[in-house]
Amino acid sequence: MTDRYAVIGNPIAHSKSPAIHAAFARQCGQDLTYEAILGPLDGFRAAVAAFRHSGGRGMNVTVPFKLEALELADKPTERARQAGAANTLRFDADGIFGDNTDGIGLVRDIRDRLGFPLCDRRILILGAGGAARGVVLPLLEESPALLAIANRSVDKAAALKTQFAPFGELLVGGFGDFAGGGFDLVINATSASLGTQSLQLPAGLFAAGALAYDMVYGKGETPFLRDARAQGAARGADGLGMLVAQAAESFFLWRGVRPDTESVLALLQGG
Ligand code: ATR
Repeated sequence: MTDRYAVIGNPIAHSKSPAIHAAFARQCGQDLTYEAILGPLDGFRAAVAAFRHSGGRGMNVTVPFKLEALELADKPTERARQAGAANTLRFDADGIFGDNTDGIGLVRDIRDRLGFPLCDRRILILGAGGAARGVVLPLLEESPALLAIANRSVDKAAALKTQFAPFGELLVGGFGDFAGGGFDLVINATSASLGTQSLQLPAGLFAAGALAYDMVYGKGETPFLRDARAQGAARGADGLGMLVAQAAESFFLWRGVRPDTESVLALLQGG
């Protein structure tokens, strides 16, 4: 029987996950279906239970249900617990396994696809919300020379420093505190570009050869990547690669095979 998977979110109509997972399944010769489910805002658990009982094997979870998904998982991974959110559920015989593949997706996209090793690099994350929290642990695990977090409200960055202290040291502050910081990698994890405001990047953020990475993606160059280029970043990449890479990690958790992301990313970029 064909195995069923789905992504649940609200809204969900524009999700690229069904196309990505259909491409993975073709590529890996896996017999599965992957659908998009609009989760009622007050009915996430019931929607997950209904899918599971109709034979679903696993789900991706997106906005605004990632926190509830973590609570629902009775076997959460450490990285999901530290992220405070789960984006992947697997329905096992002994319960619901929950993971968060966003951070490892980011790492793999930067390290493997873009060929930019993170070990011994100076890394700055802009933002201290859910998106930032989800990537801290996988970034620390790459042993950077420095991992810093700049946030508009410094207290939120300070809370992340405290939370992640058992895993490694974070340098935190406001944007201005990192002027002249000379980072090899600057990751935009703010939601600023989703609105009309652009970030006020302090001068001297980028070291020679630096990569600017926007976790957001859109048509054409994002505002952050445009600003970063103007301020001397040598390379830029948006979050479409991360989207495909986090999906590949979910696919791996469900199916035990890790699909090639490059060809699927090319497919999305062409479409
Ligand atoms: P997400 O889950 O996408 O991370 P979030 O938890 O609401 O969303 O966090 C949004 C992040 O973007 C925060 O770090 C926020 O900064 P504050 O904590 O100071 O609010 C940041 N952000 C949003 N708009 C911004 C802007 N115009 N300039 C700077 N930071 C911004």
